[in-house]
Amino acid sequence: MKIQVITLFPEMFQGVMNTSMLWKAQNIGAVEISYINLRDFGLGPRKQVDDMVYGGGDGMLLKPEPVVAAIEHAKSISPDALVVLPTPRGQVYKQSDSKSLAMDAQDLIFVCARYEGYDERITKFVDQQFCIGNYVLTGGELPAMVIMDSIIRLLPGVLGGETSAEKESFQEDDVAIEHPQYTRPEEFRGMKVPEVLLSGNHAEIEKWRQENKS
Ligand code: ADE
Repeated sequence: MKIQVITLFPEMFQGVMNTSMLWKAQNIGAVEISYINLRDFGLGPRKQVDDMVYGGGDGMLLKPEPVVAAIEHAKSISPDALVVLPTPRGQVYKQSDSKSLAMDAQDLIFVCARYEGYDERITKFVDQQFCIGNYVLTGGELPAMVIMDSIIRLLPGVLGGETSAEKESFQEDDVAIEHPQYTRPEEFRGMKVPEVLLSGNHAEIEKWRQENKS
């Protein structure tokens, strides 16, 4: 899977994408991530990417021309890619979305908006608009990283061949929170690991786990 990220701040992604599982995912070739700096598509000598709001209003909006030129550039590399715009106005992003995006394995293009927002005409060049929660962030970079993480970890080979991606919490969209888990030591500050988990009795352990899901 190829992921291209259109952003004014590609450096924001380095720490997240180049660490741990997401780094491994790139190393094993499960995903190839590249960044397109929106500034490169800015207009005029000052590489302008934003402008005032028609009708009045605070702040500046991303202009349509640079964003659409960047999308078209990304499409020239991945013609069949799905274009994703993280926005508080999108549909709420769910685990089922990450599963279908991972399963389809279609290339993706993320468009990270900034400033006070974007010219609405941009949405005509976008396939999916996702909101990651009922709050407003300063830009689309963090939501893009959240969505990318949730997809990449589901790609074959990324979680080390375990079935943990299948079994874990939020399996589908219902709130199937995992049972509590423990590691060593057996006793920590007076709190003991439940006896049954030390018993080796797999049937009893499974029963306890089922009973202790929240
Ligand atoms: N951009 C700013 N806030 C956002 C949110 N909550 N979800 C997706 N994109 C956003």
